[in-house]
Amino acid sequence: MEKKTAVIPQSEVERQLAFCDRIAERTAQWEQTPLAAVITYGCQQNEADSERLRGYLARMGYGFTEDLEQARLILINTCAIREHAEQRALGNVGALVHGKRRHPEQLICLCGCMVQQPGMAEKIRQSYRHVDLVFGPQALWRFPEMVWERLRSRGRTFQVEDDPGSIAEGIPVVRQDGIKAWVSIMYGCNNFCSYCIVPYVRGRERSRKPEDILAEIRELVKDGYRDITLLGQNVNSYGKDLAEPMDFAALLEAANAIPGDFLLRFMTSHPKDATHRLFETMARCEKVAPVLHLPFQAGNDRILKAMNRRHTREEYLAKIRDLKSLIPDIVLTSDIIVGFPGETTEEFEDTLKVLEEVRFDALFTFIFSPRAGTPAARMEDPMPRSEKLANFNRLTALQDRISEEKHAAYVGKTVRCLLDLTSEDGAWPLTGRTPGNRLVRIQGDAAAAGQFRNVKITGANKWSLFGELT
Ligand code: 5AD
Ligand code: SF4
Repeated sequence: MEKKTAVIPQSEVERQLAFCDRIAERTAQWEQTPLAAVITYGCQQNEADSERLRGYLARMGYGFTEDLEQARLILINTCAIREHAEQRALGNVGALVHGKRRHPEQLICLCGCMVQQPGMAEKIRQSYRHVDLVFGPQALWRFPEMVWERLRSRGRTFQVEDDPGSIAEGIPVVRQDGIKAWVSIMYGCNNFCSYCIVPYVRGRERSRKPEDILAEIRELVKDGYRDITLLGQNVNSYGKDLAEPMDFAALLEAANAIPGDFLLRFMTSHPKDATHRLFETMARCEKVAPVLHLPFQAGNDRILKAMNRRHTREEYLAKIRDLKSLIPDIVLTSDIIVGFPGETTEEFEDTLKVLEEVRFDALFTFIFSPRAGTPAARMEDPMPRSEKLANFNRLTALQDRISEEKHAAYVGKTVRCLLDLTSEDGAWPLTGRTPGNRLVRIQGDAAAAGQFRNVKITGANKWSLFGELT
C-alpha cells in the first residue's frame, strides 16, 4: 500500500505558536526590540520557507534588519544545489564568528538544504562552533521550540535526522513583497535525477490539500497580491498522495476560478509529467500566465538516460510543439546542465539543436557540479573544465542571440504589464513584467506601481525590454 503523507496535527502547530508567545513575553522585557537578519540562498522554495520563518520570528517579537551587527538573531537559509552555493553559505557562516565574539548573546541559526546533507551537521558541529541552531527543511515547523530551548538552556541544537517530511498548515508568513507572492503547493521530490541532491535533502513528494491552497490564494488576492506563483519541485505530480487525489490541472482550474484581477504562474514542471491536459487547461484559464518553465537539461538521449530524466529529446520537442499549437505566444524558459559526466562535445551539440528548434525566451544554464551521495558524482568525468567552459560559452552565446531576436519582436507592440517595482534608475522609474514575465523598464509615473497597465514597447536588448505607459 502506498504511504500517505504525514500531516502535522493542528495541536502541534498551536504548540509551536505557544512557544512563539512565550519567547515574545521574554523579548518584550529586553531593553530594545530584538532584530533578526534572515539571509536566503537558492531557489524560490527557500524564499517561501524564509517567509514562514520570518512569520514565526515576527510572532516571537523580532523586528527585521539587514545589518548583521544589529541583529540579535541571524538565520541563514542555505542551498545545496551546486558546490558554489554551498561554499558561499559556509564562507558567510564562518565570517560570523567575529560578530559573535563581540555579541555573545547573538543567536546564529543555520537551516535549509545544505545542512541536511550527510556529514554536514558533523562538520558544522566541529568547525563552526559559533552556530547555535541547525535544522533541515523538514524540521522548519519546529523552529519556535528550538529557539525556546536555546534561550533557556544555551545548549546547541541539531535537527537534521533523515525525514521523508510532512505537511504543516497554519504557520504565520511575513512576505517580502506586496504584489508578488509564492504559494507552496507541495514539498519534496521523488524523481532522483542522477545529478540532483534535492530528493535527498527535501524528502518525498507531498501535497498540501487543495482547500488550504485555495484559501491562501483567496486571502492573497483580497490583500492586493496580483502575481501569484504556485511552487513545487515538480508541480505536475501534485495531488498523487492526497486522500482524494486531484491533479495539477484541476488545481490550476480551481485557482483560476477565484474572483479578482491577478495572474497565476507555477514552477517547476517536469517534462515527463507535463501533459496535453495541462497545456489545454493553461490555454483555457485566462488568469494563468502564458509562460512555462520546462527544464530539459540536455539534448542528447544517452545523456538524458544517464541523468535519469525519463524522457527523450523527441518526447520533449513533441510536447513543446503541442503547447505552441495551443498557446502560440507562449513564453518558454528552461534549465540546462553543461558537462554532465561523460557528455562529449558532439553530444552537447544536440543541446544547441534543441535551442534552435524551441527558441526559448530565456535559459538558466549551469555547469555540472558533483554532489556527494548522488549517482552522477560517482560517474567517470573525463572532460577537462576548459572544454566544458567553452561549451558553456557557446550555449550562452546562442541563447543571447535568440533572446535578443525574441525581445526585438516586441518593439512597437503594446503589452499589458504588471508594474511592480520602482527602480533606482532615474531614467526608468518603473519596472514591469509582461504576462510572460519578461522584464520591462518603463518611463512613466512611479505612482502606477502595483497596477496592470498597457505599456508600449519602444526598445529591447538581450536582457530586457524598454517601454512607456500609454
Ligand atoms: N550540477 C549542476 N546543475 C544542477 N542542477 C541541479 N543539480 C545540479 C548539479 N549537480 C540544476 C538543474 C536544475 C536546476 C534547479 O539546477 O538544471 O533544474
Ligand atoms: Fe532535482 Fe530532478 Fe527533482 Fe528537479 S525533478 S528537484 S532536478 S531530482
